[in-house]
Amino acid sequence: MCGIIGITSSKPVSSSILHSLKKLEYRGYDSAGIATIDNGIINEIKSLGRVDVLEKNISQINLSGEVGIGHVRWATHGIPSTINAHPHSNENISVVHNGIIENSVILKKSLINKGHKFKSETDTEVIVHLLSEYLKSNELNNAIIKTLNDLDGSFALGIIFKDMPNIIVGARRGSPLAVGYGPNENYLGSDSYALKSMTNKITYLNDGEFCIIKKDEINFYDYMGNKVNKKILQLSTNEQNYEKGEYKHFMAKEINEQPLTIKNCVNEYIDKINNEINLHNFPWKKENIKSIKLIGCGTAFHSCLIGKYWFEELTNIDVDIDIASEFRYRKNRFKEDCLYIFVSQSGETADTYAALDLCKKNKMKTCSIVNVVESSIARDSDFVLPIHCGPEIGVASTKAFLGQMMVIYLLCLKISYLKNNIKKSDYNKKIKNLDLLSEKVKKTIFDENQIQTISNTFSKAKGSMFLGRGFSFPIALEGALKLKELAYIHAEGYPAGEMKHGPLALIEDGMPVVVVAPKDQYYKKTISNMQEVIARGAKVLLVTNKDDDQIVSENIWKKIEIDTVEKDLYPFLTTLPLQQLAYYTALKKGFDIDKPRNLAKSVTVE
Ligand code: F6R
Repeated sequence: MCGIIGITSSKPVSSSILHSLKKLEYRGYDSAGIATIDNGIINEIKSLGRVDVLEKNISQINLSGEVGIGHVRWATHGIPSTINAHPHSNENISVVHNGIIENSVILKKSLINKGHKFKSETDTEVIVHLLSEYLKSNELNNAIIKTLNDLDGSFALGIIFKDMPNIIVGARRGSPLAVGYGPNENYLGSDSYALKSMTNKITYLNDGEFCIIKKDEINFYDYMGNKVNKKILQLSTNEQNYEKGEYKHFMAKEINEQPLTIKNCVNEYIDKINNEINLHNFPWKKENIKSIKLIGCGTAFHSCLIGKYWFEELTNIDVDIDIASEFRYRKNRFKEDCLYIFVSQSGETADTYAALDLCKKNKMKTCSIVNVVESSIARDSDFVLPIHCGPEIGVASTKAFLGQMMVIYLLCLKISYLKNNIKKSDYNKKIKNLDLLSEKVKKTIFDENQIQTISNTFSKAKGSMFLGRGFSFPIALEGALKLKELAYIHAEGYPAGEMKHGPLALIEDGMPVVVVAPKDQYYKKTISNMQEVIARGAKVLLVTNKDDDQIVSENIWKKIEIDTVEKDLYPFLTTLPLQQLAYYTALKKGFDIDKPRNLAKSVTVE
């Protein structure tokens, strides 16, 4: 989603801003722009489409200036266009914004009445005019405080001023904002990833704070204008791999990295000498956790759903799940002895963050399962369990899903053991079984030609269904989500047993249907449901075990075979061919796999 970068330096900044905007491309966007201050003038240049287009446009002019802001926009208010792209400027001020200003219509009306002229359809432009208005009669800090007070909604802002050509103002409410310290220059960024190529010394604005950044000094303030001291964090300098390497797409690379994700999690959390799951400094006593609530969005929500099945299977504590965007606005009954767990790859998803914030305000115990450990969700939860899968750049989550499932599974096993819900021998066996999982995952990533013929058929389909029971139901939902978002094919994930209650009416001759049926306790029931869709003309792709000999296979269109593992662990295998199916179907259709239309990697608006 939208991304912000700001640099104040003693040398020209436009090429570093462009470089950082390229780092932010993974978030998903439709237009980009830069503004710098040079010789008492704000120079603004914006383009529809990729940062490459902006770069080309900039190369035709000499965009100098030692203070500047840049932005990649994901449209919310107003169509993707050059005029709606950020920055938004008048002759005095230029603003970049992530988030949504909910009262922009009312503010705009009153500003127009005062004679302000608007150029774009965006909500952001009101900030330019509002701040200009307050600056007429207030010094900078007061003008900022008054402007921020007038805004409803969420924002991360970067602002530069013609008359104060050595500063950048940053402000945050809801949307994350990082500040970086460099040699004779300082930075503002919507995430630390954008700043990493320039510095590893960063800090973050808390909600309601703003900052004034000069090249050699940064000051932070709370919403009332009181100075705030900040701790500077040193980011790890571990070389993270942000390149595609030999792969055509990040998604292909990330699918292939999944054996490593499992290995990293196992190495990180399992003490092999004592055959024990180590949750390093888990802050609560087992008696104080009587229930669990797992909360996330999209793919992360699917890992929560699998978590529900595991917790029910392996513990006797109550477990509940929620979609963050629903949870945050419901009348929740908060329970002191519940552990609220927030699952998120990016750690910046606005709804998940808001759900966490709500729990914190109600003094609940909060734990996050995240990939980006410097993220807002990680920073603001009481306890963090990282998934250790490295940067995930493809918009469609793959290896993070496996990592999330792995950490949820380990947490579930540990709680089960601590609560005496599992025998020590079974606990030991389940931990031992994880030793082989990485290898099994590797064997379940198929060659291109094994999936390609299947995806050729899917690429011609108008719609499709994904069916499963038990642990395979969330996998069916996830398979359908992947096909929708990458190949733009309507796909429904359904509990196989629910088909008769309505969706069976959708089945028609030749419709491709994926049935996820590993040999677990649900196998026979799912196979019966499969026969019902075959009888109505569906072309079934069955994902099941290699040694599956019980099935009359003539009426099954295709079969994908996986290894036999302990029944809890099938989700780690069955999801892999579904990721590949979506990938190759999208490839066949010629779509932009790493950046599907309308989507963003980091969903920082609700
Ligand atoms: C789908 C996908 C999304 C994310 C969702 C939550 O492939 O990636 O559904 O899972 O937007 O994002 P995070 O995990 O960053 O909170």
